[in-house]
Formats: sequence, C-alpha cells, structure tokens
Amino acid sequence: MSRLLTRIFASGQTQRKLISATVHQNLCSAVSVSPGFAVMEHKLYRPPPEARGMTSLDKDAFTQTITVPALRVPTGVLNKVVKSLRKSTIQRPGVPRVVQDKEESSGFRLVLLDPHRVSLASSFSETEAEALRSFGVAEELHHYEMKLTYDNLKSEEVLEAVLPLGQDVTSGFSRVGHIAHMNLRDHQLPYKNVIGQVIMDKNPGVTCVVNKTNMIDSTYRNFKMEVMAGEENMVAKVKENGVTYEFDFSRVYWNPRLSTEHQRVVELIKRGDTVFDVFAGVGPFAIPAARSGANVLANDLNPESYRWLQHNCKLNKVGGKVQTFNLDGRAFIQGPFKQELPSLLKGDGRVHVVMNLPALALEFLDAFRGLLQQEAPCDQNLPTVYCYGFSKDENAEADMVERASRSLGFPLKNDYSVHFVRNVAPNKDMMCVRFTLPKEVLFSSDDKHTESSEEPAPKRQKCEETAHLT
Ligand SMILES: C[S@@+](CC[C@H](N)C(=O)[O-])C[C@H]1O[C@@H](n2cnc3c(N)ncnc32)[C@H](O)[C@@H]1O
Repeated sequence: MSRLLTRIFASGQTQRKLISATVHQNLCSAVSVSPGFAVMEHKLYRPPPEARGMTSLDKDAFTQTITVPALRVPTGVLNKVVKSLRKSTIQRPGVPRVVQDKEESSGFRLVLLDPHRVSLASSFSETEAEALRSFGVAEELHHYEMKLTYDNLKSEEVLEAVLPLGQDVTSGFSRVGHIAHMNLRDHQLPYKNVIGQVIMDKNPGVTCVVNKTNMIDSTYRNFKMEVMAGEENMVAKVKENGVTYEFDFSRVYWNPRLSTEHQRVVELIKRGDTVFDVFAGVGPFAIPAARSGANVLANDLNPESYRWLQHNCKLNKVGGKVQTFNLDGRAFIQGPFKQELPSLLKGDGRVHVVMNLPALALEFLDAFRGLLQQEAPCDQNLPTVYCYGFSKDENAEADMVERASRSLGFPLKNDYSVHFVRNVAPNKDMMCVRFTLPKEVLFSSDDKHTESSEEPAPKRQKCEETAHLT
C-alpha cells in the first residue's frame, strides 16, 4: 500500500472510524493523497464564510481543499469497477472519477467516491461489494485530498454561500436562445450581478442573463428586462419543433413553454387548409402551419412582432405561403378574414382561426357576430376557432365555454372541446376552447358587439388607432 494512502478501513470491523470530507480552508498546491484522518463530515463542500454577502463575484474565495474516500483499483479492472460503482463514485462538474495513484503509478488508479454515499467500507451495497470481490479489489477506503474550485461547484452551492443565510436561493430561469431570463425576488436583487454571472458560468451557451422586472405592456405581452450579466444582445435565435425563429426578446412575446401547444394545434392543420392567426406573435403557429402546406394569414398588432414575423417567414422560406398584417385583432377579423371567408366556405380546405391572447381573446369573439350577414347562410366548411383564455374557475372548462358563448352571443352546445394548456400560477390555468363557429353567429343579422368585461375601453381605443397606422 502506498505510503501516502491512509488505509482507513481494513474491513467492517473498523467501521467506527469514519471517512473524512473535511474542508481545509487553505489552498492546497495540487491534487494529492493525504495521510491524515478526520471525523465524519457529510458535506463534500462547505460554503466559505467570506463569500457571504458578496455583491461582485470573487471566484477564488470558493477554492478549498477537501478530502474524499477512494478505492485503489488495478488498472486491468478499472472500467468494470467504475461501471459497477457508478452510484457511489464522485459526481461533480469538472472532477474526475479516476485519478492517478501517484506512489504506485504502475498498475493502480484511485477511484474517487462520493462521501455522501460512502463513509465506511460497509457502505457499499451488496451488489457493489460482490462486484469488488469478484474483481479482486480490496474494500479498503483511503483518503484523497483534492482542490475544489469555483468551477467544480453547482450554481446552488455558490449562491447558497453568497445569499443571506436561510433565504431562498432558487436560481431557476427560462432559456431563450443565448438568453437566460429570471424573475428575482426582492431579497435577491442586491446579488443580481453575482447571480447573473453564476448562471452564465454554469450554463454553457448562456451569454446573457436578464431579470424580468415587470410587464412593459399588457397589450404586446413583452417584459421590461434588466441585463444582470453578459452581453446586451437581446436578439435571440431559437428552434421550436424543428423551426428556427429570430426575434428581439425584449420587444416581442415568446414563451418556450408553449411549444407543445403550438405543435398540438399545428398537427390539426392539413395541406390546403387556410389559417387565420389573429395574434400571431413572431409566428410559432403560422410558420409551421405554412410548412405543412396551409395558406396562412398572420396578424399582430405589435409592429416589432410583425417585423420579426416577416423575418421568420423569409428565414423559413414560407414567404409565399404567409400573408402578414399589422392590425388590431378585431380589424383583422372584420377585414382580411371577412373578405376571404365567403370563397373559402365554398372550397375544399378547412378554415382555422387561432386566437392566442389568453388575457383577452375571448373578448374578441363578438367580432364574428353578423360578419357575413350580407351572404346567404350556409353550414358547409364553417371555420374552427381555437380561442385561448385564462381561467381561475374551479371548473375551468365550463367557465371557458360560458365566456365564449357570452361573447359570441350564442350558446356553444355540442361542437366544441376544451383543452388544458398549462398552469400559469396557483389557481390560474391557460385553456383553449376549440369550436366550430356557429352559422347563427356568422350570418346573424345582429352585429352588436358586447362591451369587454376585462379590457378597459381606452386600451381598445388605442389598439384601433394603432391598427390604422398600417
Ligand atoms: C400571447 S402572445 C401569442 C403570440 C404567439 N401566437 C405565440 O403563441 O407565441 C399574443 C400576441 O398578441 C399580440 N396582440 C396583443 N394585442 C393585440 C391586438 N389587439 N390585436 C392583435 N394582436 C395583439 C401581442 O403583440 C402578442 O404578440
């Protein structure tokens, strides 16, 4: 046995002696094997006290020397041993599981173990112990001293060391291309630069971290953001369901949590169908639908969304399949939709109307009332509407149907279904009601519109004014 290796446990008889993962605050020159012996310590890493309260990141403060248990393994069986012990070996970013046994470089390596799992020779499971015996490896644990640096720590470990004791360090974020966006709580704000830097360091590909401060505009659904770390480049490139999108994340709406919903709806659209996307954003329904062979008319009131929508149509080579509009949703329904519909009702392809503006879309359904009152009523090929809404009701499905019926001025009875999209907050669900637009609504002679119960009048005024700009 190596001089430098301390045999800690010859067998189960010495079980009372415990392996150490004691942290030495002094820097240790290089990885080495320690002759020392210490008391049991379940933490592989201890937050350095000097990191507490740090408001600009000092990576060196996190360097420390730790001691972990190790097994000496003949090189001939090394791979097999590592495989058999995969649940017990050390798992840490940038830390090797196998290191050179310096003293006896010929024929042996050290397999480093996780001290949380292995503190005694008897810590190995029956299967692991059996494997070790079969490979002729002694179940003796040794000390191995190593230098642990900032690079070997997980983001939670760094932030736990920095933020005030007992405070929540949740470092969750959503990823949009190279941008990580967070929603910091008040107590985390003084440490925002450190938090941003840590998120960037620990997540390859993230080169910009932003904090969502609030909704900048409840119409366009984008957020006010503050750059916490990294470059100030807000133009993101993302791939969703195989389609590439580019957009300025600070000026348009994009939610990576909607990819399944986009896919679900697009799968219902067939070649030759026509899609009216009333609140299209930068195109996550419109562009895949066009790629599936549908003709698409896509609209968004936000001039920035409209610009990126056009850009993404070109990027995905569907420019010829998508007509774009920069109108208020109501003006879009009463303009391009109304103009195209009569001939589409006589055609073969189906007509889909997608309305993803959950806070308000149900309130726009009255725009369909009496839309074709000048035309001869027919019930062939009536459009299918996918209208999104938020519901806080215990019976969200009934709530959606009831609100849609009220806005349409006609009760939805049979030809509808309601789909749960996602939970957006405690007791608040995003839902999608899908229905065939009733001919009683479309051809009604009554085109009076209900006043919105959620949307204050001035906002609608503003939308209509903006719509005239195009
Ligand atoms: C929730 S986002 C959905 C965007 C896209 N369909 C998606 O699934 O990611 C709603 C979009 O509606 C747009 N919008 C808001 N009010 C509008 C209005 N009155 N008329 C048309 N578009 C509107 C916003 O700019 C935003 O892009």
